[in-house]
Amino acid sequence: MTAPPVFDARGLSKRFHMGQATVEALRGVDLQVSAGEVLVVAGPSGSGKSTLLHLLGTLDEPDAGALTIDGTPASSMGEAERTAFRRIRLGFVFQTFNLLPVLSAQENVELPLWLAGVSSGERRRRAHEALAEVGLGARRGHRPDQLSGGERQRVAIARALVHRPLAVLADEPTGNLDSGTAAEVMELLMSLNRAHGTVFVIATHDAALIARAPRRVALHDGRVASDERKASA
Ligand SMILES: Nc1ncnc2c1ncn2[C@@H]1O[C@H](COP(=O)(O)OP(=O)(O)OP(=O)(O)O)[C@@H](O)[C@H]1O
Ligand SMILES: [Mg+2]
Repeated sequence: MTAPPVFDARGLSKRFHMGQATVEALRGVDLQVSAGEVLVVAGPSGSGKSTLLHLLGTLDEPDAGALTIDGTPASSMGEAERTAFRRIRLGFVFQTFNLLPVLSAQENVELPLWLAGVSSGERRRRAHEALAEVGLGARRGHRPDQLSGGERQRVAIARALVHRPLAVLADEPTGNLDSGTAAEVMELLMSLNRAHGTVFVIATHDAALIARAPRRVALHDGRVASDERKASA
């Protein structure tokens, strides 16, 4: 039996109401993402990239269409179940890193494990391992303001992966980084994908990231305009 797609989105639509005006952010998006895939979601500003990531991450619900994650229909889960599912099975990386400023790198990475009820010794061990894997073993005790932008994003990536999620959703993960650091972050995501099989769905404008991605889905006005895989991937 073949494994179900990690994400199976059918006809996802999302609209936002702003006073009298209605914005059709997504208009019937179909997207299947298989185990082990890395894909970028590209497209102009306002094309629906962040909205799509929010829906895939169960942070928001569609107005129409259906989403199944690893065989489970998202609509079948209640709010509490969805929160638990998100904490255990998914990871998130944001443009602004979203690290807690008063916590060390180590403590930031331990947070998802703490939420999942992992014991303190095990939390420490796994956070060490995750930080070593992103090349920050020597920076464990630093707070975010004592780290460079690229290092902060590595901490955020370690935090997104420490609980070994099925998939990580990254919204403009290199938006605040220079092009060299952005390329390093993309290489890191690709190597973590090879090591653990984690699915990465990356929303980005960054041409260098788009060029390196094995699969590119372009959105235009809330619709999938193209979906291409690299010949070698
Ligand atoms: N919470 C919201 N309330 C009202 N409108 C929204 C909301 N979120 C998104 N939109 C609108 O939906 C459309 C898609 O927005 P979205 O943030 O998904 O675009 P995006 O492709 O991520 O853009 P960017 O590249 O600028 O991040 C836009 O027109 C936006 O203004
Ligand atoms: Mg966006």
